[in-house]
Amino acid sequence: MSDSVLSGKGITKVFGFGDKKTIAVDHVDFDFHERELVSIVGESGSGKTTLVKMLLGLLSVTEGDIYFMGKKRDISTRGKKREYWKGIQAIFQDPFSSYNMFHKIDSVLLDCINMRGGAGLPRSKKIEMMTEACGFVNLKFAELTNKYPFELSGGQMQRLMIARIFLLKPKILLADEPTSMIDACSRATILDMLLQCRDEVGMMIIFITHDIGLAYYISDSVYIMEHGKFVEHGSADDVILNPSADYTKRLINDVPKIHAPWDFGKALG
Ligand SMILES: Nc1ncnc2c1ncn2[C@@H]1O[C@H](COP(=O)(O)OP(=O)(O)OP(=O)(O)O)[C@@H](O)[C@H]1O
Ligand SMILES: [Mg+2]
Repeated sequence: MSDSVLSGKGITKVFGFGDKKTIAVDHVDFDFHERELVSIVGESGSGKTTLVKMLLGLLSVTEGDIYFMGKKRDISTRGKKREYWKGIQAIFQDPFSSYNMFHKIDSVLLDCINMRGGAGLPRSKKIEMMTEACGFVNLKFAELTNKYPFELSGGQMQRLMIARIFLLKPKILLADEPTSMIDACSRATILDMLLQCRDEVGMMIIFITHDIGLAYYISDSVYIMEHGKFVEHGSADDVILNPSADYTKRLINDVPKIHAPWDFGKALG
């Protein structure tokens, strides 16, 4: 298998103390590889977003070590954190939380170019790059300049997030239910854009979802999360076609079997 880009040993997050203690993530181990698409599947409250925030460095890790590109992660200073974020980026459930509402869209995109070391490029080159990124997600840059993020629809905002990723070209993209706010049609488009982004930029994607059917459809590997623990992981085929944990079997049984032939004998029996 290709090189490890992100791995963790015994990653744990405990919120609160004493009676109020919640173990949101409980000693999870993982190893993600270059260009891999991994889904983390679990019900609400299983600890998915908490894990994502630790991976991004937005939440401290109570216990355990994270390794990025084969080395122990060090985000102890602001500078080191900024450097780390060149390699790992996220798309969140709520696109409204992802932007500074007081920054116009061009400055959101310009920040991405600057972060990649393009601050000194001529203005015309920057506009060309921003136009290309918007084109990639079917947005028109010329119509967005001078607008604020809150002037966009939810779906446009989500596409703008992908345009940011296209400019930032991180090694790893964390996508925490990025399609939850939009209808099924735009959802398929967004997923398609993410997959295309992986092919063009060569990213590794960590996709967080409740939907085991979707995970099966898009992933190379699947990790199943229950009460803060990974109860099962492996290739999407192994985990979903041949599940060993009861929890995984339950998640699979909850999926409406739209493709299964209707069993009249059973229905009438
Ligand atoms: N800041 C916090 N303080 C205290 N408890 C928290 C905090 N954030 C999350 N938790 C708790 O940790 C557990 C895991 O929450 P988390 O948001 O990671 O779940 P999730 O799997 O992302 O759920 P969902 O699918 O609904 O987004 C929950 O019990 C939650 O109440
Ligand atoms: Mg969540």
